[in-house]
Amino acid sequence: KHVLVLHGPNLNLLGKREPGVYGSVTLEEINGNLANLAAEAGIKLTAFQSNAEAELIDRVQQAVRDGVDFIIINPAAYTHTSIALRDAFAAVELPFIEVHLSNIFSREPFRSKSYFSDLARGVISGLGAKGYELALQYALTSR
Ligand code: DQA
Repeated sequence: KHVLVLHGPNLNLLGKREPGVYGSVTLEEINGNLANLAAEAGIKLTAFQSNAEAELIDRVQQAVRDGVDFIIINPAAYTHTSIALRDAFAAVELPFIEVHLSNIFSREPFRSKSYFSDLARGVISGLGAKGYELALQYALTSR
């Protein structure tokens, strides 16, 4: 099994970025924790962060060639804007979970709209860094 974890724009700043909203855990800590869990479970895990829409789209397309069978993605602000990244998921037909650190439904109204949720296997929003862990647990047991 190969799980790809994709992090969208500004998530490289986690830990320093609006800690009241996003928490104090850094992206390195999140990825390190996921890598440990994946190693324990004996699966392959690749993590990738980009601030560029095109790079995220390329990684989704590349996932098929790389033999990825499940994606965990926090599209960050592209959640609310990117039809192009959404279309990449529709094209590759890989199962994915949409994760948000914050509860996007308890914030500004523009964050309540996601271009991904209807295509996602499921959505985890508001559980902080724990959300990634829960998503990986699901990915381990599903196909
Ligand atoms: C986010 C929520 C988005 O609205 C925001 O643009 C982000 C992070 C989250 O993880 O809570 O960058 O996806």
